[in-house]
Amino acid sequence: MFLKEVYQQRRNALKAALGEGIILLPGNEESGMNYKDNVYPFRQDSCFLYFTGIDRPDLCFIIDIDNDQEVLFGDDPTLYDIVWTGPQEELALQAEKSGIAFTRTKIEIEKTLRGNRKIHFLPPYRAETALKLAGWNITDQPSVPLIKAIVAQRSVKSAEEIIEIEKGVATTVLMQKRAMELTRPGIAENVIAGELQAIAIAGGGNLSFPTILTVNGEILHNHASTKILQSGQMVLCDCGAENSNRYAGDLTRTFPVDRSFTAQQQEVYNIVLNAHQTAAKALKPGILYKDVHLLACEQLAIGLKDLGLMRGDPKQAVAEGAHALFFQCGLGHMMGLDIHDMENLGEEYVGYTEELKKSTQFGLKSLRLGRALEPGFVLTVEPGLYFIPVLIDLWSAEKKHEEFINYEKVLQYRDFGGIRIEEDFLITDQGSRLLGPPLEKTIDEIHNLFNR
Ligand code: GLY
Ligand code: MN
Ligand code: MN
Repeated sequence: MFLKEVYQQRRNALKAALGEGIILLPGNEESGMNYKDNVYPFRQDSCFLYFTGIDRPDLCFIIDIDNDQEVLFGDDPTLYDIVWTGPQEELALQAEKSGIAFTRTKIEIEKTLRGNRKIHFLPPYRAETALKLAGWNITDQPSVPLIKAIVAQRSVKSAEEIIEIEKGVATTVLMQKRAMELTRPGIAENVIAGELQAIAIAGGGNLSFPTILTVNGEILHNHASTKILQSGQMVLCDCGAENSNRYAGDLTRTFPVDRSFTAQQQEVYNIVLNAHQTAAKALKPGILYKDVHLLACEQLAIGLKDLGLMRGDPKQAVAEGAHALFFQCGLGHMMGLDIHDMENLGEEYVGYTEELKKSTQFGLKSLRLGRALEPGFVLTVEPGLYFIPVLIDLWSAEKKHEEFINYEKVLQYRDFGGIRIEEDFLITDQGSRLLGPPLEKTIDEIHNLFNR
């Protein structure tokens, strides 16, 4: 938790942005995996955390702007609760640490929300929160002014937030190094993935998202980790830790099971690396992230043309979406308290603007961030090349974008797998800064690490 002045200042800015009404921020509850008392690890709602710093279940925070009053609602544990959970800091003390003047019991929430007042609340992403809103007779739509005000605040990370994010990234670097260390033919994906979670927990937090540790790197969000590593394959490791204050890291490396890439793997790897480096170099305030994405796509298309998989004008190929046979997703996303920061508030507000709407084209429609970058933004850069057999079969049967794609050659790569390289960047006044300690990335660096 930061000093209470940090939260007070954040709340003051939010109040000033909205001007009137009541801001309602319900915290998250414990959630049962298979029965009520067998719970998932508790994760506080990130907006609740951002404005209060209190990482404890079953609370609700209300800012009454009209009466200039802030109230934390919750119940202190009973003696019976304490038998099971141990003693907990009193709610009043937690409120004090956050600079909140008043606490009340949970049952008083409904009464506070009664009457003909404007209530600003966010779109719920958990069923429990939706049920709570219904129970309080809230039938309006979520508040767009609240969404916009929070997105404006949370998009620009403060110096103390950057420190926390870098702790998350530093733990993520340790996870990546361990994955490379353990990689060899015969080891199971889940054995490596399990060790990575242990490192995240030892770092004081937990995973920031379910680890993607797979020899099927072409499956974009493959959480299965059920295979045994085999000679000749590559491992795609996309993992992240959130630190004790819940700030995230998110890194991807792809490396060879045999500790040495084949010539074919090196060719494809270097195309992705070049796209990554070109995109990273382009990061600066004012540039549209959509344009950085398109720049990376063009570099991928140029590389694929050199390899004989694509043909024609790379710029035109990208404009028409032909490259999306190999790069079906976006170049990156905001990162902060959430791994995909504020995605629950709506990509149209976080990643786009009134003037810049999200494309519906295959590939571009998965770009979560398109708008102009500003100093203080934290984002990922994560280009990749993914050879998805069903997609290749479908497009080649349809002869889709045939003027840009050499299917005869592509079919030779049908079972190649996938490569992604991902890093986290802070946008600075001049350009950008890579977050976290260095981690092997070029082919030489990975070979040197493996053959040390
Ligand atoms: N970890 C998912 C992503 O990189 O967006
Ligand atoms: Mn990412
Ligand atoms: Mn990732």
